[in-house]
Amino acid sequence: MEQYIIKGGNPLVGEVEIGGAKNAALAILAAAIMTDETVMIDNLPDVNDINVLLEAIEGIGARVQRIDRHTVKINGSHITDFDIEYDYIKKIRASYYLLGALLGKYKRAEVALPGGCNIGSRPIDQHLKGFRALGAYVDIEHGKIIAEADHLRGKHIYFDVVSVGATINVMMAASMADGLTIMENVAKEPHVVDVANFLNSMGANIRGAGTDVIKIRGVSKLHSTTYSIIPDQIEAGTFMFAAAATRGDVTVLNVIPKHLEATIAKLVEIGCEVEEFDDAVRVVSKGALRNTQVKTLPYPGFPTDMQPQIGVTLALCKGTSTITESIFENRFKYLDELARMGANVKIEGNSATIEGVNGFSGARVSAPDLRAGAALVIAGLAADGITIVDDIVYIQRGYERFEEKLRSLGAQIEKVSTEREIQKFKLKVC
Ligand code: EPZ
Repeated sequence: MEQYIIKGGNPLVGEVEIGGAKNAALAILAAAIMTDETVMIDNLPDVNDINVLLEAIEGIGARVQRIDRHTVKINGSHITDFDIEYDYIKKIRASYYLLGALLGKYKRAEVALPGGCNIGSRPIDQHLKGFRALGAYVDIEHGKIIAEADHLRGKHIYFDVVSVGATINVMMAASMADGLTIMENVAKEPHVVDVANFLNSMGANIRGAGTDVIKIRGVSKLHSTTYSIIPDQIEAGTFMFAAAATRGDVTVLNVIPKHLEATIAKLVEIGCEVEEFDDAVRVVSKGALRNTQVKTLPYPGFPTDMQPQIGVTLALCKGTSTITESIFENRFKYLDELARMGANVKIEGNSATIEGVNGFSGARVSAPDLRAGAALVIAGLAADGITIVDDIVYIQRGYERFEEKLRSLGAQIEKVSTEREIQKFKLKVC
């Protein structure tokens, strides 16, 4: 199993290029099959989740041509299979976006029911509610979601829960339904807007994405397009908190500062200097950092996908901080690992109280999930001594060339998989 090995203590300094947004790209790749013409998508992040979804899309008969690691052409005209195998869903939940895409275009789809995952039970009742509201017959048989409809008709849909996935999945199906669909209490994340813009570039008629109400006038056909994915706000924020935690000076390039407002606000609150440019943000962390309070909320609130990253940083801030995780029920597992590096934390339900400490000591830790794994790497970068992070396959799902980008900022980190490589690294850095 591959691991990261880190020699902590170096402030991160320099500039780092941010890639395309994984959570926008996953939905856009699924939506690309909704036309029989060829779609070209670039600024794709080269991460495992994207590569697995492209395999699933090819698996149902679409033509997928990788122009390069960040650009792909997709043609959905030869899809013959509307059944997404469990193997794909098990590897990546977001394969369920094919449900909305296939239902919208072919009025039928079979997708294995996604299970829960490390951060929570993650039900999909709101997705199914939306499909049924559009007139689809939706049932669950033998662990599969069966969805089909003679016609999809536009409807006024009010979501009980603000859900990124349900908003995107139902928006895809509604884009090819007959008539007007009004969706309320929807997610407003930048990647929801990116999917709406992508569908509109294919000839859909979607208005209001990024606000509380999305209005869709269904069309019978979608056409080819060339589209570039927005930058990944979570990758950017991860490097920004790494700069804060290591007392560094990092500029993230190719970002949309507006998407980072909640992150920037918290970095300033704890004492970092933040400078915004048109498509870059610089974070300088010089003096002592101070505590603050955080509550994760749907966009434009503080993102749940940035919660582990700020948690690690707050563990090094003077004073008592609290984090309330209001989106997922099990997203504090990384704090148990952090306590083994010397953090002083207390978890009570969906809240964590963090007493800042002067520093962490390196230890062997295990990545519980994607964002928690990245946060433990940040902890290792800030720690005194050697940290080894196991189960980095989680991190590789969403971060492209993570260790390379960190090394370019002065981090001493390598990907290893044998005891011999670990010893070699230790000899080199100690
Ligand atoms: C997306 O997950 C992201 N994944 C997650 O990022 C992110 O944490 C999450 O949105 C919130 O921003 C992708 O985009 C692939 P939700 P999603 O539906 O769509 C409840 C990462 O690290 N809910 O907005 O699954 C749900 O239990 C990943 O990149 C229902 O109750 O999240 C949760 O409490 C982790 N019923 C809340 O809504 C439903 O039908 C928000 O979930 C759907 C969701």
